[in-house]
Amino acid sequence: MTLEPSTVLTGIGELVTCDGTGEAGLGLRHDAAVVVEDGRIAWVGDFASAPDADRRVDLAGRAVLPGFVDSHSHLVFDGDRSAEFAARMTGERYDGGGIGVSVAATRAASDDRLRELVAGRVAEMRDQGTTTVEIKSGYGLTVEDEARSLRIASEFTTETTFLGAHVVPPEARGGRAAYLELVTGPMLQACAPHAKWADVFCEPNSPHAFTQDESRAVLSAARDAGLGLRVHGNQLGHGPGVQLAVEVGAASVDHCTFLSDADVEALVGAADTTVATLLPGVEFSTRSTYPDARRLIDAGVSVALATDCNPGTCYSSSMPFVIALAVREMGMTPGEAVWAATAGSAKALRRTDIGRIAVGGPADLAVLEAPSHLHLAYRAGVPIARALT
Ligand code: NIG
Ligand code: FE
Repeated sequence: MTLEPSTVLTGIGELVTCDGTGEAGLGLRHDAAVVVEDGRIAWVGDFASAPDADRRVDLAGRAVLPGFVDSHSHLVFDGDRSAEFAARMTGERYDGGGIGVSVAATRAASDDRLRELVAGRVAEMRDQGTTTVEIKSGYGLTVEDEARSLRIASEFTTETTFLGAHVVPPEARGGRAAYLELVTGPMLQACAPHAKWADVFCEPNSPHAFTQDESRAVLSAARDAGLGLRVHGNQLGHGPGVQLAVEVGAASVDHCTFLSDADVEALVGAADTTVATLLPGVEFSTRSTYPDARRLIDAGVSVALATDCNPGTCYSSSMPFVIALAVREMGMTPGEAVWAATAGSAKALRRTDIGRIAVGGPADLAVLEAPSHLHLAYRAGVPIARALT
């Protein structure tokens, strides 16, 4: 559907503005209309007083909400790891070792092939209501392959993240120090022009990932290069990721599956700065225990939801699936889950223009084949959400 040049949306069953008011901050409105002009929200108000526009679209009672903000994904990869997934379903543990398989396949792929794969995944996301996606590198792990991953990612989003510190690549084993020098030196220099953020897999519970000191070195070099900071932390067991993320003022620490009381306290203290991004598709796909979102929200932590779409721990691009898991398995109300998948994940990207429906903001809207946001979890597995434009 095209909303150009100006369109008034009527017949909205429920408008989820995420303006911070009401239950879970969802700012629900009924009998509302929205005017979209040149790709921006020009007017929001009662249907009865809606101004004229070039076109009128009757949504026949469907719910409208901000497009989902998927603040954590790894879409630039080639190769298939479905056998690894199947092995986990019969008891195999995930330790990050499979990342090397995706690295080999990604290095072997042409630019055009990678571009086509990313385009397909981004389209799949839009078809499920996602209008902003963050995309990480991390399956290249050479200067050239990381830089081209980010160049391709930036064709699809401004939210690009350098993840040269995903794992120590297979050919560098035994040479961790040398690999870290590469990541914090020439690789960072080559990648920084194409990246907004840097991330690190801080996980002492994996032999492939990085320790607290190694991760701190990566983050501090990235900050010096002008990049914003993000951290993969506390995914496979208790560890230093959350404390490090808070220490360096990262925008987000992602996974947060295993948290001590001190970790939760640190996140409460940093609620204005550092968002805890929960990725329950990973727990689903690795047969792990789910993070305790209820504990975090009740304590006052800022919480976001994202897919982590990647070939290893969660090959799902579906924010509605994540919302359903958050409601069923992590103690979130449907409203809290929708907030965390929109305004919450926008905050994890330090964005205030997206993740809400407000005059002047981009018309990044999602529509549901359903009358209310409750149906996202209620009708789990049914493709009811899509991006409107
Ligand atoms: O976020 N944990 C590290 N990285 C990804 C998984 C990468 C993979 O297994 O390919 C994640 O879970
Ligand atoms: Fe990830």
